[in-house]
Amino acid sequence: MDHAAQVMERLETLGRISDEPGRLTREFASPAMRRANELVKSWMAQAGMTTRADAVGNLIGHSPGAHDSSKLLLLGSHLDTVRDAGKFDGALGVLLAIAYVEQLKASGQTVDFGIDVIGFADEEGLRYQISYLGSRAMTGQLNETDLERVDANGITMAAAIAEFGGDPSQLNSCQMGSETLLGYVEVHVEQGPVLEQKGHAVGVVTAIAGQTRVSVTFEGKSGHAGTTPMKLRCDALCGAAEFILQVERYAKLQPGLVATVGQVTLEPNVSNVIAAHCRLTFDVRHQIDRIRTQACQDLRLFATGLQQKRGLTMTWQTAQETASVPCSVELSNLMRKAAQRHQAEVIDLPSGAGHDAAIMATIAPVAMLFVRCRDGLSHHPAEFASVEDIRIALEVLVDFVLSLTSTT
Ligand code: HGY
Ligand code: MN
Ligand code: MN
Repeated sequence: MDHAAQVMERLETLGRISDEPGRLTREFASPAMRRANELVKSWMAQAGMTTRADAVGNLIGHSPGAHDSSKLLLLGSHLDTVRDAGKFDGALGVLLAIAYVEQLKASGQTVDFGIDVIGFADEEGLRYQISYLGSRAMTGQLNETDLERVDANGITMAAAIAEFGGDPSQLNSCQMGSETLLGYVEVHVEQGPVLEQKGHAVGVVTAIAGQTRVSVTFEGKSGHAGTTPMKLRCDALCGAAEFILQVERYAKLQPGLVATVGQVTLEPNVSNVIAAHCRLTFDVRHQIDRIRTQACQDLRLFATGLQQKRGLTMTWQTAQETASVPCSVELSNLMRKAAQRHQAEVIDLPSGAGHDAAIMATIAPVAMLFVRCRDGLSHHPAEFASVEDIRIALEVLVDFVLSLTSTT
């Protein structure tokens, strides 16, 4: 079986490891994440790598350099998922990196520098509503305040880490050592329609869009659905609904802006009671930070206006803000040249999705290679990339690393 076919088979196996029956959901420091780490660790060991888990649960496989392990190339992606996820988002980048090391070993070739393959413990932010926990720990950006966040069951991040077998008091130990980092390279499904429309298997990522994640709460007053006159109501859900439609209206008018309200929670959430409390998540992104921050200001002003208009109290809590991150020009040039050896035309494209590369860029130059995904679908169980495209991506990665050896 060739390496690409093996990646495909492993994606199927890994894709069955879930915290929920009947669909793929694998969240930070969960029982499924533990099983997934065990399985991926065994594949890393099969590839001849030594393996370790860091204090927050990131899984790291190491392949020493033939001559100089003081220099390190980082390859990888994340092993967590969203709820009811596809099996390629994150996992493809980790398994393809392992396949690269396996094929290097099988070819008898060596590279001068060391290679770490990383399976990040959390990129999506499903459990604690802030993303990039794994890469932020690795870059020294996870702090005590983050550890105090609680999940839907009231479990703190610190307790979840300890329960998982990590050590929340050792966040500093997650940071990379003194090696010279040659770069961090992430192969990832595009999660969009561009490569499919172009008929391309792979594309080179230019930049990762900045994103802001906000929790907006509307507090109104509960009351009897049958006896409270409409003009006397302070209906938190109607206020939220007006805000949600304004988010959509605003984003449709601003080219390149995407804005999403993906989660709404209601209290008391009873059919014959007027909603007293509505909390929603607001996710806004753009390649240009100024446009994204302006959108947040404008929509926050709109939400504030709803207080007076509807007799509500609104709170706006920014949970996370990450700036737009450009990929390394040097590494991207090497990646593009490698891709051009396997695809007649190679395009550059920005990423609307966030990736660990956006965080790893604070400690190393980053490059990303996108792989075509069917219908551009992602964060959906029908997410799919073909074994042919995975094979091309692997060949490009092989050539990329080869070209990197001649520049270091
Ligand atoms: O939300 C994102 O962009 C990524 O999938 N975490
Ligand atoms: Mn994702
Ligand atoms: Mn991802």
